[in-house]
Amino acid sequence: MVNSRWWQEAVFYQIYPRSFADEDGDGMGDFAGIIRQLDYLEHLGIDAIWLSPHYPSPQVDCGYDISDYIGVAPEYGTLDTFRAFLEGAHQRGIRVVLDLVLNHTSDQHPWFQASRSGRDHPKRDWYVWRDGRTGTDGERLPPNNWESSFTGSAWEYDPATDQYYYHHFLKEQPDLNWRNPEVRAAMWDVVRFWLDLGVDGFRLDAIATIYEHPDLPDHTSDMTLLDLYAVWATAEDPDVLAELGREWERLFEYQFDLPEVHDLMKDLRQLVNGYGDVVLIGEDEKIAYYGSGDDELHMVFNFELMRTRRLTPPQIRANQAERLAQLPDGAWPCNTLGNHDSPRVKSAFGDGVHDAELARLSLALLLTLRGTPFLYYGEEIGMVNRVLDSLEQFRDTLALRQYALAVENGFSEDRAFALVRKATRDVARTPMQWSNAPNAGFSPAGVDTWLPVHPNYAEGVNVADQLDDPTSMLAFYRRLLAVRRSSPALRLGEYESVLEDGASCLAFLRRVPDQLCLVVLNYTAQTQSLAPDLPYRVTEVMFSTPARSGPIDLVALTVAPYGILIAEVAVA
Ligand code: NOJ
Repeated sequence: MVNSRWWQEAVFYQIYPRSFADEDGDGMGDFAGIIRQLDYLEHLGIDAIWLSPHYPSPQVDCGYDISDYIGVAPEYGTLDTFRAFLEGAHQRGIRVVLDLVLNHTSDQHPWFQASRSGRDHPKRDWYVWRDGRTGTDGERLPPNNWESSFTGSAWEYDPATDQYYYHHFLKEQPDLNWRNPEVRAAMWDVVRFWLDLGVDGFRLDAIATIYEHPDLPDHTSDMTLLDLYAVWATAEDPDVLAELGREWERLFEYQFDLPEVHDLMKDLRQLVNGYGDVVLIGEDEKIAYYGSGDDELHMVFNFELMRTRRLTPPQIRANQAERLAQLPDGAWPCNTLGNHDSPRVKSAFGDGVHDAELARLSLALLLTLRGTPFLYYGEEIGMVNRVLDSLEQFRDTLALRQYALAVENGFSEDRAFALVRKATRDVARTPMQWSNAPNAGFSPAGVDTWLPVHPNYAEGVNVADQLDDPTSMLAFYRRLLAVRRSSPALRLGEYESVLEDGASCLAFLRRVPDQLCLVVLNYTAQTQSLAPDLPYRVTEVMFSTPARSGPIDLVALTVAPYGILIAEVAVA
């Protein structure tokens, strides 16, 4: 037996509340809709839900601009419907993790309203206010050259009090001043509120941006973020991409990853430890957030895998070798390939020809690597990016602002549109496709959904059509989730790479004392013959595409194009 915590064995499923299920027919999702679909989630075989923000919000950043941390957005329901959702999930053995946005609030939050009301207001210092500078011609300038990571200046002038406030993201998302102990106390009350209600943990938004350098030194980059994005949009060369990464770090050197954040994470960890088995997952990839392995966050995401342009066996092997070696004792990995900020898995890792096969490999990879997997709603039916044709359809303020800034900076409208069209996060946030009914069964016919539904719901990319089809993506997800659930080695085992130099196939072992599994994934369109040098024989095929019959000889192993083999092995 291996001792484990629930969140190490769980498979998480991210729900974007606006897009999951619309019960009241207003074109956006709600808690009543989620409650109706809990049976579906149980049937799918996931263990925990990460719920993107469900709090009252002006929705300038789709809920990541919170105006009340202890409420429920009225368009989604009430605190009572939230409670019913939580209870319904728990009854089915599904845990619920909320999104906690610590870095900033909405500019409509009463804290900010109070803070901006006067320089002497007791809450003035809850946010980051500074005087501007005067330029050589006497013009008013922001306190320094820092940019928002959503492009443009990070400072917004407030004429009423003649000062600037700092916002790492949109100007409607002012940063809290975490150097003020009252902010910490108020936010920890929020944490206690939801834990007292029974939630199982938090996904912590944008932790690296919580602190900024108090002396406000100018950054030393010569590039603007917009220029950087414009190059990045078309760059393929790994050296160019790496240099862009370094430039990005120069741009944000005083606004990102300040050491103080680790003390804050330790403090939060101590708070949640008092509530038992509660999990904290940081929206960051840096191993440093694990602290000693047991005193900061329980998990951070392996974003390197998600952000790679093409998943290949050598790259995945290198990622695992490096990352697993860096983890401190006791720390547990966490893998994901998609979320509400990134393209859909099937679009991101497809090659335009074998997208379905590659999407299946992506799931097999996520569910067999060592670590907790995070899935994103709709992946399980093969939803793909919905590329929008006109700016009017965009809802992602980030993309709209970037477009406006690009045009202001001399980009032609076509170039600006090309820049944001693919990058807009809207592409992966479209409504869940439940059936082949109008509006994909998400909202009633004739209702304008908040983002347009992807038309491919009419071509089988929907739950109802896939539920009873054993060849569907949904059936594949269910089967593979069941295999993982039944296997202690896949859930908890040590990872050991096999075939160190193979470019076509990824192969590795997962090992617990009572079970040893071999996983082989063929990333090519050709059958591959392998001769892994292993002292084992196959005792049981746990999963294979295509299905296999008869014994498997590990000395002369063949794997079909894009084939997946998961087998239990034992000493020969
Ligand atoms: C990260 C969230 O995932 C993203 O959607 C949001 O826009 C920013 N943080 C700001 O909260």
